[in-house]
Amino acid sequence: MQELLRPGAADALAPAGVGAERIASLWWVAIAIAAIVYALTVGALAWGAWRARAHQVPTDAHQLPGDEPRVNAVIVGATAVTVLLLFGFLVTDLITSQRLSAMEKPRALTIHITGHQWWWHAEYADSIPSQRLSTANEIHIPAGTPVQLVLQTADVIHSFWAPSLQGKRDLMPHHANLLFLNASQPGEYAGPCAEFCGLQHARMTLRLVVDPPAAYTRWYAAQLTAAPTPTDSLRHLGEAVFTTKACPLCHTVRGTAAGGSVGPDLTHVASRRWLAAGAIPNTDGTLASWITDPQAIKPGTQMPPTRLTAAELTALVAYLRGLR
Ligand code: CUA
Repeated sequence: MQELLRPGAADALAPAGVGAERIASLWWVAIAIAAIVYALTVGALAWGAWRARAHQVPTDAHQLPGDEPRVNAVIVGATAVTVLLLFGFLVTDLITSQRLSAMEKPRALTIHITGHQWWWHAEYADSIPSQRLSTANEIHIPAGTPVQLVLQTADVIHSFWAPSLQGKRDLMPHHANLLFLNASQPGEYAGPCAEFCGLQHARMTLRLVVDPPAAYTRWYAAQLTAAPTPTDSLRHLGEAVFTTKACPLCHTVRGTAAGGSVGPDLTHVASRRWLAAGAIPNTDGTLASWITDPQAIKPGTQMPPTRLTAAELTALVAYLRGLR
């Protein structure tokens, strides 16, 4: 069994985005009030127990003689405070929801995210078709920029949750849900699927990289280019292995004949830090294991094993690892 891998931060109490900051503030207000109420309740209980003992009240007595008006006042007071507190919670909750929905405008960037068992497809929208970008399992967004996510699923219900950046939103069949991100701090964040979606639910993590705007622009331009043409004989052989085996039935590598859409787009797969939706780090060795026996890494995955000679595997790994 592999150790638990963490592709980036996932901490709702260490917010790095506007939405998560507001949710964290709501949490701190709620936990502070709850802690005060708890402390007062336990304090009152302890004081009552101490007082009963000090006055040597029999254990079956309900109250001290002459205490009735005071007890009634305490009950009425505590009920009033409870109602007021619940009302206060309701108001702060509504204010937070209102501020979260105020993030909807304006938006500079729209990304369509589609959940699959068990990986994430991402499509960056653009009015110019040649500027649209398709990628998988890793998205980059510019810091300090409002981003709209259009969340959909290709199969069952999944849930998008990058706790450091924003609250949770489900990906529903036949219905697009919207979520708005505005990440304030550049860094690497994890979006583990947050709705049980089958055998590999636990290995379905979207990696979110928040870049400074200039770095984001560079990343986007690089991702838009077609796959680099192999420059040496090993990678040429690898490309031939890729295009003649079953790979193109499921995967796209732009710039080649491979145009499948069942599995992740591999045009720049070597630029991603993780493989198989956060299941394994992206190295020569893990990639070779994933190609030859994906079921050993993600039992139930729809990626079939590929039978290759050792020379073919070496060439294919060299080719794919060259797709930066
Ligand atoms: Cu997808 Cu859980």
